[in-house]
Amino acid sequence: MNFASDNITGASDEILDALLRANAGHAMPYGNDDLTARVEEQLSELFETELSAFLVATGSAANSLALSVMTPSYGAVLCHWTSHIFEDECGAPEFFTGGARMVPVDGPDGKVDLQDLAIKAARGAGDVHMLQPSAASITQVTEIGSLYTVNEIAAVADVCRSHKLKLHMDGARFANAVVALGCTPAEMSWKAGVEVLSFGATKNGALGAEAVIIFDKDLADTFAFRRKRGGHLFSKMRLLSAQMEAYLSDELWRYNAEHANAMAARLRDGIAPLASFEFPYTDGANMLFPKLPATLHQALNDEGFIFYGGRWEEGVVRLVTAFNTDANHVDAFINAAVRLERSGNDSPSLYSAGIS
Ligand SMILES: Cc1ncc(COP(=O)(O)O)c(C=O)c1O
Repeated sequence: MNFASDNITGASDEILDALLRANAGHAMPYGNDDLTARVEEQLSELFETELSAFLVATGSAANSLALSVMTPSYGAVLCHWTSHIFEDECGAPEFFTGGARMVPVDGPDGKVDLQDLAIKAARGAGDVHMLQPSAASITQVTEIGSLYTVNEIAAVADVCRSHKLKLHMDGARFANAVVALGCTPAEMSWKAGVEVLSFGATKNGALGAEAVIIFDKDLADTFAFRRKRGGHLFSKMRLLSAQMEAYLSDELWRYNAEHANAMAARLRDGIAPLASFEFPYTDGANMLFPKLPATLHQALNDEGFIFYGGRWEEGVVRLVTAFNTDANHVDAFINAAVRLERSGNDSPSLYSAGIS
């Protein structure tokens, strides 16, 4: 039973069905097809505004290409030190921006601290010897499972505006965040001051489709060229568009995220009362970062529960639920944790009883 990530899944049936439909017949290549045009309309409707949307196949490409239109090559992009663009994209943002530097910002709970953001936004501005702070990027849901409230996003945007930085949002789990906050996609993005959004679908039911959504039309001018140059202008673009079209139709995005979030809440409710589990961070969407004893971690792994640990502060692990997480798997995890904790309490050889 796998709680390692929300990309351990396949795709939603609705998306596979849409792919089969799009697979039939012919359509013009490189996005010159009806489905691709339809997706831009759907996104405009969802976000209640005019926008430019470009599909790519990975979140790293979405982020890196998004940033490439937001900063010059001599720019600095401010982001939380845990952020995917800083830690997990193998320098792709630097590569696609032609050399702009990702500059880490501090802040509790995986969210940028406004004071530190303002300090780094002012550092070097106008000094010919230094990188020019040009953009900031925030991640929603954050890399440690917390959420920026809409007001917090607006406060980040205020700092950005006063220092003339563009604001990007890495929304790999955008749908999970919208559902968790109970707001609208517009409220959590452009209305709060986000100018470019990486709108993820892969982790929430697509096979591999993400949209870069550009709310500020001026920033969209060069994107098409950058996407082609970056190898993400798919010749059979309709097969990406079909995924996104199905994801946006009948609010599949919402339905899937509701399920993922509900499974995380169920898991949390089951393990939070146990003495072995602490929750050092706030959460609320589909990722939990509890802290537990190493012996219990190992015992759960030995029983077949897969999840990541060792990357965060000592003892902290990551449990992620997805659009198709089986409630029985969640309950099995809870039951195992309860049983192992009891056996650990009964026996000085912690958690060893009954474990193969
Ligand atoms: C917050 C966040 N952003 C971006 C990505 C990038 O996605 P991909 O692996 O498709 O490049 C991930 C993937 O784990 C992620 O967690």
